[in-house]
Amino acid sequence: MNADDESIRLLDLVSALRRAFADPAGADAAAHDEIGRVEALLAAATAVPNPARPTHHPLTKQLPAVLDLASRQAPDIAAALRPVAAHLPWRYGYAPRDDAPGLDAAMGWTELIGPLAPIVSREVCFGLTLIGPHTHYLPHRHPAVELYRILVGHPHWTMGSTTSSRTPGEATLHDSNVVHAMRTESEPLLAIYSWTGDVDTPSAWA
Ligand SMILES: [Fe+2]
Repeated sequence: MNADDESIRLLDLVSALRRAFADPAGADAAAHDEIGRVEALLAAATAVPNPARPTHHPLTKQLPAVLDLASRQAPDIAAALRPVAAHLPWRYGYAPRDDAPGLDAAMGWTELIGPLAPIVSREVCFGLTLIGPHTHYLPHRHPAVELYRILVGHPHWTMGSTTSSRTPGEATLHDSNVVHAMRTESEPLLAIYSWTGDVDTPSAWA
């Protein structure tokens, strides 16, 4: 794939993700307000992507199975993601912990729009989070306001002291510094995420 083809496919993916993200179904009033904020900031991001630098994160081994599930649960996203999925900058940024060996290989995210992403914005982050099967993304928090839109999977989702099961299409809003965690069973979780507010301070274990 040459650089122009890669740019076009990345922009196609971002367009498909923005359509799914902005779907009013599955979003309550607070989530809907945040979607509006994110959309305005995404519209102001640079129009031409820099080349994505693939990281060859071990998570990429899970992409074929995730794409097969996505083709049933989110077919438009699967079609746009399949050509570029393995070339995206998947990464993991938490400090290692003795009670979660291998977590760094079992989950991660790829930022498509953001301060260090192929499409540059200083105001908003927008990308995909992927959590492999039977994985607990342990409690964490960050000052940025975060909105997730589930594409694939039925994870257990904890926000504050409440845990519930989630389904594809649902939007979940995390206010600044709210502690949250996700746990998968046999299915992975693939979700769109956005950050607004303090997008420079990284997430940390709670
Ligand atoms: Fe988060």
